[in-house]
Amino acid sequence: MQAFPSSLVLVGAGKMGAAMLEGWLGAGLAPSAVTVIDPAPSDALRALAEGQGFSLLTGDAQNEAKPSEVVVLAIKPQMLDQAAATFSPWVGPQTLVVSVLAGKTVANVTARLPQTHKIVRAMPNLPASVLQGMTGCYAAPAVTDAQKALSQRLLEAVGAVEWVADEHLIDSVTSVSGSGPAYVFFLVECLTQAGIREGLPAAVAAKLARKTIEGAGELLRQSDLSPATLRQNVTSPGGTTAAALEVLMAEDGLAPLMEKAVHAARLRAEALSG
Ligand SMILES: NC(=O)c1ccc[n+]([C@@H]2O[C@H](COP(=O)([O-])OP(=O)(O)OC[C@H]3O[C@@H](n4cnc5c(N)ncnc54)[C@H](OP(=O)(O)O)[C@@H]3O)[C@@H](O)[C@H]2O)c1
Repeated sequence: MQAFPSSLVLVGAGKMGAAMLEGWLGAGLAPSAVTVIDPAPSDALRALAEGQGFSLLTGDAQNEAKPSEVVVLAIKPQMLDQAAATFSPWVGPQTLVVSVLAGKTVANVTARLPQTHKIVRAMPNLPASVLQGMTGCYAAPAVTDAQKALSQRLLEAVGAVEWVADEHLIDSVTSVSGSGPAYVFFLVECLTQAGIREGLPAAVAAKLARKTIEGAGELLRQSDLSPATLRQNVTSPGGTTAAALEVLMAEDGLAPLMEKAVHAARLRAEALSG
């Protein structure tokens, strides 16, 4: 297995940064290798830094800065231009920069960090916060195989990782897995409403819908079977599930609607990345 880096700087330890940090430390990254830069760290982050012994920098003073093996950018995308001066001293010509900044292209990052072209652009999703994330990544041509493996190791600490060969496909990744958790949450809402319409008390319908999606997700996670096989396994001919699926799988059912929704998300992602 690819070793963890000997030095890693995390810039921005908000929701996504903190989730990745906890994943790395839990997976065995040595705290002594880690520097976290965040101007206003949460109490939880301060306590973690004290407990684990990694370096936490909050001010502009970068006296300790020296090129790191890896720099992970997890600030808000709109902070990139403003924050670049703070983390630039940690980036040298060989530094691997892993950026999770939504909508920021490799060219956007290079414009702020011209000293390296070794940039991996990653799009994680919200379940990374419970170590069940799905991250799609693109590696710029200058990224070495070893650096790709290193990025994979780091991103796998919060879930699964897939690579795309063209950067523009990151917008498609965003439209499927990046925004995807919200589609599933909405499915729970719709299933709840449908249950209420069929006579269930609201709280009961909400619990049935939520636990059903949780349980189906867990089954999917634990099983090697395809979703289609799992679906067929619970669908008896002429039964209740078949009656519902006939509606969902009709020509004007869920499939064209999902395609339309995912397409809209991709167009929006494209527009946002300029
Ligand atoms: N959350 C997700 O599900 C998700 C999914 C995909 C991609 N992403 C990407 O992940 C990035 C972070 O998102 P988030 O949800 O984790 O946002 P967030 O919770 O706001 O985290 C950003 C963190 O960066 C800190 N920060 C601000 N300026 C900084 C500076 N100059 N130097 C160092 N740190 C600085 C912020 O501190 P303050 O709070 O004090 O400003 C905050 O702790 C975004 O680019 C987003 O596109 C997030």
